[in-house]
Amino acid sequence: MKTELLKIDSPQDTENLRRAAEVLRRGGLCGIPTETVYGLAANALDETAVKKIFAAKGRPQDNPLIVHISSTDELPALVREIPPEAKALAAAFWPGPLTMVLPKADCIPDAVSCGLDTVAIRMPSHPIANAIIRTAGIPLAAPSANTSGKPSPTTAEHVLHDMDGKIDMIVDGGACSVGVESTVVTLCTAPPRLLRPGGVTLEMLRDVLGVVDVDKAVLGELERGEKPSSPGMKYKHYSPDADVKLIRGSLASFARYAQTFPVSETLILCFDGEESAFANETIPLGAAADAAAHAQRIFRALRDADERGFKTVLVHCPDDRGVDLAVLNRLLRAAAFQVVDTE
Ligand code: TXA
Ligand code: MG
Repeated sequence: MKTELLKIDSPQDTENLRRAAEVLRRGGLCGIPTETVYGLAANALDETAVKKIFAAKGRPQDNPLIVHISSTDELPALVREIPPEAKALAAAFWPGPLTMVLPKADCIPDAVSCGLDTVAIRMPSHPIANAIIRTAGIPLAAPSANTSGKPSPTTAEHVLHDMDGKIDMIVDGGACSVGVESTVVTLCTAPPRLLRPGGVTLEMLRDVLGVVDVDKAVLGELERGEKPSSPGMKYKHYSPDADVKLIRGSLASFARYAQTFPVSETLILCFDGEESAFANETIPLGAAADAAAHAQRIFRALRDADERGFKTVLVHCPDDRGVDLAVLNRLLRAAAFQVVDTE
C-alpha cells in the first residue's frame, strides 16, 4: 500500500484533519504525533482495524494497547468504574503524558485489551492528536509507531522509516516534546502501582495520591516465566541493532573502558561537556541534570546509532530521579540489562 505523508501544523487545518479522520473512520491505520512519541492509531472500537496495528508493527498478540481520548467525557463509556484516584489524576495530569489502567467496559474489543479485564486510557495534550481524535469522533487505539522492539519514533521521518508501505497515512506534526512514552499507572491495585515511568514522574504521582508502588519490572529484570503486570515490560525493547551497554562510573573510568572497544565502531552517548574525554564519536544527551533533555534525545540517538552503522553504543547512565527514571527504564531494556560498573 502507498503511505501518504500529510503535514498538519495547526488544529485549525480542518481540511487535512478531516482527511486523517476519514482514514481512521473507515478502519485504516494512521501515524499521529503526540507529545510523548508518535502513535500508530486505529479505531479502538473496531476489532478488525485494531488487528492491523499488530500486523504492521509485528507486535506480540498478548501486549495490550492504550486507548486515546480527547475529553474526559469519553471516559465513562470505556470503563466499568472510575475510582476517586483516577479522577484526581485526570484533574492533575490530563491532557498529558499519563495513562491509567482501569476496569474495562464491554465495548473494548479483546484485540485492544488482549484478554485482560482492564484497559489503559490516555488523553494526549498534543493539539494535533487531540484534534484528530475529536474530528474522527472515536477513541483511538495507538501503540508507539515503531516496528516492535525498535526505538520509539519521535519524528514523522522515524515513522516513515519503520512503516512505509504498511499503513495508510502518517500525519507530520513536528518533533515530540517529551520524547519518551507516557507514564502507565494501574488503579486496579491498592495502592496504585507505577507500571511504566514517563513524563509524569513518580514524584508527581505521589504528590497527588500519597502512596504509589513501583512495579518490579520498572528497573528490574523479570525472571524467566514470571508474569509481568504490564505485558509490554517483558519484551526486549527500544533496541537498535548495535549492542548497547550502560556505564556506571566516573567520566575518567568510562573513558578508559571505552578504549577497550574499536574506536570507529563504538558510539558514546554522554552528558554535555564530557565529549572531549573520548576519541570516539559522541552524541551529547544534554546536561547531566537535565532529565527532560535526556528524554527528548534518547530515542533519536539510538536510531542514529543504527543509521550510522555503529556496532556498540556505550551510554553514560542517568540517575533514577524525575523523568530520568523513564530514560533509565528505556535504556535498561535497550541494553538488555547490561550495566557495567567501570569504577
Ligand atoms: O505515550 C504513549 O503512551 C504512546 C503514545 C502513542 O500515546 N503509546 C505507547 O503505547 O507507548 P505502547 O503500546 O507502545 O505501550 C503501551 C504500554 C505497554 O507496556 C502495555 O503493556 C501497557 O501499556 N498496557 C496497555 N494496556 C494495559 C493494561 N490493560 N494493563 C497493563 N498494562 C497495559
Ligand atoms: Mg511501544
